[in-house]
Amino acid sequence: MNVLKVKNYDEMSEKACSILLDKINSVPHPVLGLATGSTPEGLYKKLIEEYRSGEVSFKDTTTFNLDEYIGLSMDHPNSYHHYMKDHLFQHIDIDMEKAHVPNGDVTDVQSECKDYEKIIHENGNIDIQILGIGTNGHIGFNEPGTPFTSRTHIVNLAESTRQANARFFGSIEDVPTRAITMGIETIRESKEIIVLVSGEKKAEALSRFINGDVSESFPASILQKHNNVTIVADEAALSKL
Ligand code: F6R
Repeated sequence: MNVLKVKNYDEMSEKACSILLDKINSVPHPVLGLATGSTPEGLYKKLIEEYRSGEVSFKDTTTFNLDEYIGLSMDHPNSYHHYMKDHLFQHIDIDMEKAHVPNGDVTDVQSECKDYEKIIHENGNIDIQILGIGTNGHIGFNEPGTPFTSRTHIVNLAESTRQANARFFGSIEDVPTRAITMGIETIRESKEIIVLVSGEKKAEALSRFINGDVSESFPASILQKHNNVTIVADEAALSKL
């Protein structure tokens, strides 16, 4: 894994933006894997700025988000559909038919998982996947203990994840208990992976991610075995290495 050290959150977002722009501008029909949460917000802001200044068009881009809560409607303010629309999609020229986020508001969630996996494959898999990392090592919503061979599936969210995400909801009780996530195997099939890590609260996780054993108890560790991973991390996140 290649580690790019940057000063702070802003530089991390800048670097991630320029990596994505290079990909979008060099592949005829780029397929991007996208994440939500606090980490990629700065990246999305920069992508919008680049779009507004005419540096990039998303017309030919297809996107797949990593995950979505089960039980929230698409227009719920805390759904990842809403997050993506708000932070990126409504500000750029992407064809919304090509902007995929799992739908957690369906009666047959199993079929939704199968279909999501199928469309990713039909699009030739992901060219470049953006990931954040949970303090417990989760990637997407693949919590510790998830098999490395998993495909898009339903997860029970770890208590620590619900607690971490309660900041977006009024209280922990309002955070859904289940979600759909791309599986670890699905993520591993991405041709290139960019992991963004910022802040001291991620320092322990980043250290284990880079130097720890490859183990299902720390899902991100499997990326040590991928042949094209770049970690863009700021000084605070790298402070425990
Ligand atoms: C979000 C996702 C999660 C987050 C992780 C870090 O789509 O899949 O794995 O990347 O929980 O979240 P933040 O960036 O809020 O610290």
